[in-house]
Amino acid sequence: MKDKLSFDLLSEDRIKSILKTELFAKKIYAFWSVGSTNEFAYHRALQGELEGTLVIAEEQTKGRGRMHRQWDSPFSKGLWFSLILRPELPASKAGLIPYLAGISVAETVENFLELKPDVKWPNDLLLNDRKFCGILSEVEFDNGKINFIILGIGINVNHQPEDFPEPYRNFATSLRIESDRRIDRAELLVDLLLRIEKNYEFMQLYGFREIVTRWKKRCPQFGQEIIIIQDDKRFEGKFEELDVEGCLLLRTKSGELKKIVAGDIVF
Ligand code: BTN
Repeated sequence: MKDKLSFDLLSEDRIKSILKTELFAKKIYAFWSVGSTNEFAYHRALQGELEGTLVIAEEQTKGRGRMHRQWDSPFSKGLWFSLILRPELPASKAGLIPYLAGISVAETVENFLELKPDVKWPNDLLLNDRKFCGILSEVEFDNGKINFIILGIGINVNHQPEDFPEPYRNFATSLRIESDRRIDRAELLVDLLLRIEKNYEFMQLYGFREIVTRWKKRCPQFGQEIIIIQDDKRFEGKFEELDVEGCLLLRTKSGELKKIVAGDIVF
C-alpha cells in the first residue's frame, strides 16, 4: 500500500469536499491506476453516462496523446483526467472544444501560481517554451450530430526533472519546476474544473468567438512565420488565422491560404 501521507491523494471524497462546480464532477470515477481515463470515459459515455462525469487517475498505464502517441502519466505526479461533455453544438464546432480547454488551463495556472502559460497550436500549453500540459479531445458522432466529447487533460504538476523519461526531459516541464512550489493537485483541479465550467457555459451562450480570441492572445506563434510537420509533410508560412472550425490557416509563400487540420508546429 502506498503511503497516503506522502502525497496529495485525488480521492472522490477529497475532491467532492472542495468542489466548486455546479455541473462538472457531480459523478466521479477516481482510480489509483487505469489504462487511460479517456478510454474509460469513452466506454462510460457510450453507456449513457451523464455530462460532467469526471474520470481521474493517480496513474495511467496507457495514457494516450495526440497522433497515437503515448502520454507519460506517472503515479501521483500530475493531473490525468477526462470529462464527459454533451454540448448542444453543430458537429463542425467539436474541434473548438480544445481551445476552450486550453485557455481554461492557462487562466487557472495564471491565477493559481502567477505563471503566464503560452498556448501552442493545436493543444499544448507551455511555460518557458517547455510543455507542461496536453489536451486530447475525442468526439463520438451520431447521425452527423455530436453524441459526446471526451475532453482529456494531462498536466505535469509535481514532477521533478528526473521524473521525466530521457527523451522528454529537454522539452517537458512541470508546474512545480516552474514555480518552485509543491502543489496540492486537488486544489488545482477544483479551480480548473470551475474555470472550464464557466468557459463552457459562456461558450454555450455566446459561441466560441471570444474564447478563440483569448486563445490567440496567448499564442506567441499567431501571426508569425511557422513550420508545421504533418506526418512526412512539411508546410511553411504565416499563421494567419484560426477558422470557424478551429483549423489553422497558413499563408504560404505563394500567397495561397492553406487549411491545416492536424500537425505539429516545430520551433
Ligand atoms: C497530447 O499532448 O498529445 C495530449 C495528451 C493528453 C493526455 C491526457 S491525460 C488524461 C487523458 N487520458 C488520456 O489517455 N489522455 C488524456
